[in-house]
Amino acid sequence: MTLTTVAKIFETMDWGPAPEARGPALEWIKAHDGRFGLYVGGRWVAPSAGDGFDTINPATREPLARIGQAGTEDVDAAVKAASEALPAWAGLSGHVRARHLYALARTVQKHSRLLAVLESLDNGKSIREARDLDIPLVARHFYHHAGWAQIRDTEFPGYGPVGVVGQIIPWNFPLLMVAWKVAPALAAGNTIVLKPAEFTPLTALCFAELAHEAGLPAGVLNVITGDGRTGKLLVDHPGVDKIAFTGSTEVGRQIRKATAGSGKKLTLELGGKSPFIVFEDADLDSVVEGVVDAIWFNQGQVCCAGSRLLVQEGVAGKLIPKLRARMEKLRVGEPLDKAIDMGAIVAPVQLERIRSLVDQGVAEGATMWQPTWACPTEGYFYPPTLFTDVAPAASIAQVEIFGPVLVSMTFRTPAEAVELANNTPYGLASSVWTENINLALDIAPKIKAGVVWINSTNLFDAAAGFGGYRESGFGREGGKEGMWEYLKRTGAGSREPSGSSRVETPAASTATAPGSRLPAAGLPPVDRTPKLFIGGKQVRPDQGYSRKVVGPSGEVVGDVGDGNRKDIRDAVEAAHKASGWGRGSGHARAQVLYYVAENLSARAEEFARRIAAQTGASSDAAAGEVTASISRLFTYAAWADKYDGAIHHVPIRGVTLAMPEAIGVIGIAAPASNPLLGFVSLVAPAVATGNTVVAIPSPTHPLSATDFYGVLETSDVPDGVINIVTGDRDPLIRVLAEHLDVDAVWYWGTAAGVKAVEEASAGNMKRTWASDQTAHALDWLDPAWGEGQEFLRHATQVKNIWIPYGE
Ligand code: NAI
Repeated sequence: MTLTTVAKIFETMDWGPAPEARGPALEWIKAHDGRFGLYVGGRWVAPSAGDGFDTINPATREPLARIGQAGTEDVDAAVKAASEALPAWAGLSGHVRARHLYALARTVQKHSRLLAVLESLDNGKSIREARDLDIPLVARHFYHHAGWAQIRDTEFPGYGPVGVVGQIIPWNFPLLMVAWKVAPALAAGNTIVLKPAEFTPLTALCFAELAHEAGLPAGVLNVITGDGRTGKLLVDHPGVDKIAFTGSTEVGRQIRKATAGSGKKLTLELGGKSPFIVFEDADLDSVVEGVVDAIWFNQGQVCCAGSRLLVQEGVAGKLIPKLRARMEKLRVGEPLDKAIDMGAIVAPVQLERIRSLVDQGVAEGATMWQPTWACPTEGYFYPPTLFTDVAPAASIAQVEIFGPVLVSMTFRTPAEAVELANNTPYGLASSVWTENINLALDIAPKIKAGVVWINSTNLFDAAAGFGGYRESGFGREGGKEGMWEYLKRTGAGSREPSGSSRVETPAASTATAPGSRLPAAGLPPVDRTPKLFIGGKQVRPDQGYSRKVVGPSGEVVGDVGDGNRKDIRDAVEAAHKASGWGRGSGHARAQVLYYVAENLSARAEEFARRIAAQTGASSDAAAGEVTASISRLFTYAAWADKYDGAIHHVPIRGVTLAMPEAIGVIGIAAPASNPLLGFVSLVAPAVATGNTVVAIPSPTHPLSATDFYGVLETSDVPDGVINIVTGDRDPLIRVLAEHLDVDAVWYWGTAAGVKAVEEASAGNMKRTWASDQTAHALDWLDPAWGEGQEFLRHATQVKNIWIPYGE
């Protein structure tokens, strides 16, 4: 280089290319003859059929390697290998599992360069991001979870692994998603069949090999490759106990339906259309850098990308030109060049999808802006793109583009910002920019999203749970919340039904004890038909029909209203109107629950008689159920101001507040048995945590719940917080499960009911907690099973709020 050229470079500040060496990664591929089988049972095996497919380098369009397409037999073999490895792996002490996870973390660090380059080649992401973000976070995840393995038994007493888990991951963070899935699963003691995305299988395969070298026992981690067909085979496999999926909402919905009624545990991390909210007092220069990280990081192929820029009107005129100036300086090109900002789009199909959505945005009248420079043409590149003048209902404002495309809108007031932010079926993440801490912390609880970044964006850490609200899926990855997803209760806590032909038998504790029945005397006359309880009022059912309630000997012991779809809809509306309940204090909710308990206690004898009359329980058992119900109300009054969340000390200049928030409106179908206790055990934790409910009482003994109307009316429960609709339970809960304004459904009933509820919930991806009581009836009287934090966990979802803190 001549001096003149150097001088010229100084003048223009042009950067020359600074490529990372690709040699070692290509050698690793070459060592496998450019062709990969499946990694099953600790060794490479050839797929049973088919020729497979190529994985390409999207920056050059060159094929990198040939990949196997796993079919039925291969999935079978992988699940078998995982099942066989399970007892030994699950049987290891926490400390030994911790050592394995620690070894994986060290291995990732040792091979970080190879993994980063391989990732960049296969995915098209910039080496700068792969090297400085993806891979360090992968190692961090294994370290963090080595810790959870070590302390699992003390931190999660009474819980053990779920079993064989099937994990299906996307292409945007191929190895990071491996870590997010594999680390907690292994820490908890599960074994794994993992399917990476078809566009980006290389780092997962490399990791499997490295894990084996690091001493992970054969069969504990199996990696099978293939497209959606392989994924589907894994989802449907009867030997799999849990599915963990990250990907599109569309496929997530299919998986929800496919696993309905199967008993498989499920977590879904789906798409998003996350708001990036800029208030007028924000530091606009920081905002510009924030936007770069929010939407141009990983070419915008990020589920939590800040893809909707919401700007307060007064500063839009300043911010947009600044942003355009910054975009003009972004560099798109060869991902292995350390100086580029954006690499390639993963595949032509994704590029095409981005293009067509951008075209649609233009056609719908929004203003599109792109920098003046052109992208390289040899690979799949797309320039950073900004839309202004976007209507909130426009396709580009609603659909996840999953590319470097930012749509901006303006708002006037904080209330309008919240409304716009929540104007999406998704709820994955959000970013709030303001120098006013009061404003930031006022907005954070109002946004319906699993993550809120304050004056920051796209921050991740293994200690902080990640996952969505609403149609962004359910379950969390990372932190303690993430560990729960890979654990299940151990030990006895349910009992087999006493007669195989009996469906949802009443609990043994309330069964008839000869000679000790309470007399029916003193009960209200049979003709007093209770109505429904909606919005704090007793209302007639829509169609004016009633249902007979029969006692243990077949005698009629009362009537209840026969609610229908319309009644459920009214109840859901009333429950929504009462949403202020969740914004009140835990202390206030506790007071109401204590009051409910007090008023129930005042009528204990009458309630016991009613239980006995309906179920034939002995007087002692019936009285015991009432006492247990009062105690249960006390339990949740106790928890109402104690279920607190956590503060995570993430390794950045900040902390993360993990706040358990109410889910919203919960539909509850109470079990047939224990008509009072079963009902109270479900409704109380839901309302203690700030939800409002629509509850359907025991289908066989509903009178205990209708007696409860009076207790609620005299206990300061605000109108609409607890709504009760009697009737044919299973069809009614189905209406709730299908209802798009219901956020969660809990169901204790039959296997067919479980399946129906889980299937119907896929509409808006509501959370479900459904249990087949014919196979395993829960012993509601046992506090170890009938109450506690498991109920509170189901009643809440954790929002992680990242706030700047410290030096
Ligand atoms: P996808 O959801 O189809 O793929 C994700 C994973 O699921 C892949 O491993 C795929 O092989 C597998 N899969 C596909 N169909 C399946 C099925 N029926 N059963 C089981 N597994 C199945 O996502 P795709 O097609 O790669 O991308 C399409 C769009 O999805 C993107 O444009 C983007 O909007 C969104 N997406 C969102 C992601 C996120 O993290 N939120 C990640 C990837 C894609």
